[in-house]
Amino acid sequence: MSDAERTFVMVKPDGVQRGLIGEIVSRFEDRGLKLVGAKFTRIPEEQAQEHYRELEDEPFFDGLVEFITSGPVLAMVWEGQDATRQVRNMMGKTDPAESPPGTIRGDLGLDLGRNVIHGSDHEEDGANEREIDLFFDEDELHDYEKVDETWLYE
Ligand code: RTP
Ligand code: MG
Repeated sequence: MSDAERTFVMVKPDGVQRGLIGEIVSRFEDRGLKLVGAKFTRIPEEQAQEHYRELEDEPFFDGLVEFITSGPVLAMVWEGQDATRQVRNMMGKTDPAESPPGTIRGDLGLDLGRNVIHGSDHEEDGANEREIDLFFDEDELHDYEKVDETWLYE
């Protein structure tokens, strides 16, 4: 495998409330990505502000923090070849209305502020490591070999 990496992914409170955890996890499993960490948690306000700190000057920042802390989320780390970019491709665009069918946001959402899922941005340097560190301790991430790996990678 080349470019094996870990990326941070989260089913947002709307995805949890709408019963989409299984659907979303299935998509990453089916793609061949490996789950190495998962946590069902309600994000504290300070952690949410830190998570979205790049956006703190945006007019929608307070609403975004309020939404992301409004209920539990499923925080996850997925590992695989080029994982950060591949997960973002699978998510679609930020706005579900602009996301093509076949993508998670394009299939499961309609509104910019309720877009079901978060994934680390591959265009933001080191976002995946920063976000993984913010949500997980080292001993909550698991190194293991999965039985399908020799059939997934050349
Ligand atoms: P995310 O971080 O949640 O995965 O989303 P993203 O990278 O696709 O988009 P980002 O620019 O990081 O924005 C974070 C979240 O803020 C909300 N947003 N609202 N009202 C607006 O113009 C606006 N722009 C962004 C979205 O819910 C987005 O997921
Ligand atoms: Mg983002």
